[in-house]
Amino acid sequence: MELRLRRNLPAEAFMLFLVVLLRNSVVGAITSKHPCDFPAIFNFGDSNSDTGGLSAAFGQAGPPHGESFFHGPAGRYCDGRLIIDFIAESFELPYLSAYLDALGSNFTQGANFATAGSTIRPQNTTLHQSGFSPFSLNVQWYQFNDFHRRVQNFRTKKVDEVFKRLMPKSEDFSRALYTFDIGQNDLTAGLFQNLSLRQVRESVPDIVGQFKTVIKDIYNQGGRAFWIHNTGPFGCLPYVLDRQPVTTGQVDKYGCVGPFNELARYFNLRLKQTVDQLREHLPKAAITYVDIYSVKYALITQSINHLRFKHALRACCGHGGKYNYNVHIGCGGKIKINGTEILVGKACADPTAAINWDGVHYTQAANKWVFDQIVNGSFSDPPSPLGLTCRRQH
Ligand SMILES: *[C@@H]1O[C@H](CO)[C@@H](O)[C@H](O)[C@H]1NC(C)=O
Ligand SMILES: *[C@@H]1O[C@H](CO)[C@@H](O)[C@H](O)[C@H]1NC(C)=O
Ligand SMILES: *[C@@H]1O[C@H](CO)[C@@H](O)[C@H](O)[C@H]1NC(C)=O
Ligand SMILES: *[C@@H]1O[C@H](CO)[C@@H](O)[C@H](O)[C@H]1NC(C)=O
Ligand SMILES: *[C@@H]1O[C@H](CO)[C@@H](O)[C@H](O)[C@H]1NC(C)=O
Repeated sequence: MELRLRRNLPAEAFMLFLVVLLRNSVVGAITSKHPCDFPAIFNFGDSNSDTGGLSAAFGQAGPPHGESFFHGPAGRYCDGRLIIDFIAESFELPYLSAYLDALGSNFTQGANFATAGSTIRPQNTTLHQSGFSPFSLNVQWYQFNDFHRRVQNFRTKKVDEVFKRLMPKSEDFSRALYTFDIGQNDLTAGLFQNLSLRQVRESVPDIVGQFKTVIKDIYNQGGRAFWIHNTGPFGCLPYVLDRQPVTTGQVDKYGCVGPFNELARYFNLRLKQTVDQLREHLPKAAITYVDIYSVKYALITQSINHLRFKHALRACCGHGGKYNYNVHIGCGGKIKINGTEILVGKACADPTAAINWDGVHYTQAANKWVFDQIVNGSFSDPPSPLGLTCRRQH
């Protein structure tokens, strides 16, 4: 359409058009916050970046989830926005619709394949049995694959205009940012099945191997810019800490389970090596590895110095015990007291001063704090800011 427009324009008008175009792009370059003008974001992951996937498939994460920002449930296991929401905001893109969400979704500028409880490797249990999502990374990849194929079909066939206004352009797939935050559940799934630390550790090469396969496949379909979060210090999270007696005697001076965090760091080491290999194998890929672990660990262990945050290891929304967390009665759950049903896990008085939201996930305030640390690239390899992640550095 642009070409036809140019052809029909007389030379003078075309020059004027060029001047305007140039001036706009110069102004654009100055005012745009990001040199990388990603038209879309495609995200893969677990609850750390689920914006409605699990809720669409298995029922809404109910109140008080979402109350600090969305003023009600918004498919997120959080009181508000997640790191992926702050990433989308920073590119002036809309919040990502969950691929699984049939109603109200608009995928023009991206799609989110993440669901809470997702693992990299498919688990041999159901969500009901173990709490892990059936939408493991390979399934998220099937979904992306089908999404990509059908967008191409929609674009070439005569389809209703409304579909076109809900889908990205074919060419956006190679210009998009591909983001990943997954792996924590592969580690906890092993531990919760009573595998020894050594057994879970031995499964890590297979886990990162399956991750690598997915990145390669997306590259082969045209993906070029990848933003990969490593996994956080899950040994500091109430849902892990609460699992006595597993954790007895292994708690460090900050109250975190040292050997579990060590496992997370081992996973991260292998993930980083995998990213290095991918850079070698995929010459046109710009892959950024982001050390979320260090940022979250610093937040938790130094919260005493950050006056804004209190009670690093205590859930804001929960019920009972040392960590305000009860595996049977989660945030938003209901219990009957003397025949009257009451909502437990009413959020704490000030979620903006809390780090942990529901025993498993971080608060919006913590997510914002983490985002502010990572956006300038100081925790990235290569150390370039988020806005420059379309450019290969190595
Ligand atoms: C699930 O079972 C298959 C077949 O026994 C096995 O190869 C795979 O490793 C298992 N997955 C996990 C996550 O344990
Ligand atoms: C979907 O969002 C895009 C902008 O991101 C907008 O241009 C388009 O009109 C929206 N589609 C519908 C059907 O509202
Ligand atoms: C793991 O061990 C605990 C404590 O012995 C036990 O209660 C639980 O049922 C075991 N879990 C599995 C999945 O075997
Ligand atoms: C439940 O009812 C009993 C008997 O009326 C009363 O003693 C108790 O305090 C009540 N518990 C709560 C939590 O209201
Ligand atoms: C990145 O941002 C953080 C948080 O604002 C700041 O503490 C740090 O000094 C910045 N690093 C660089 C290299 O600009």
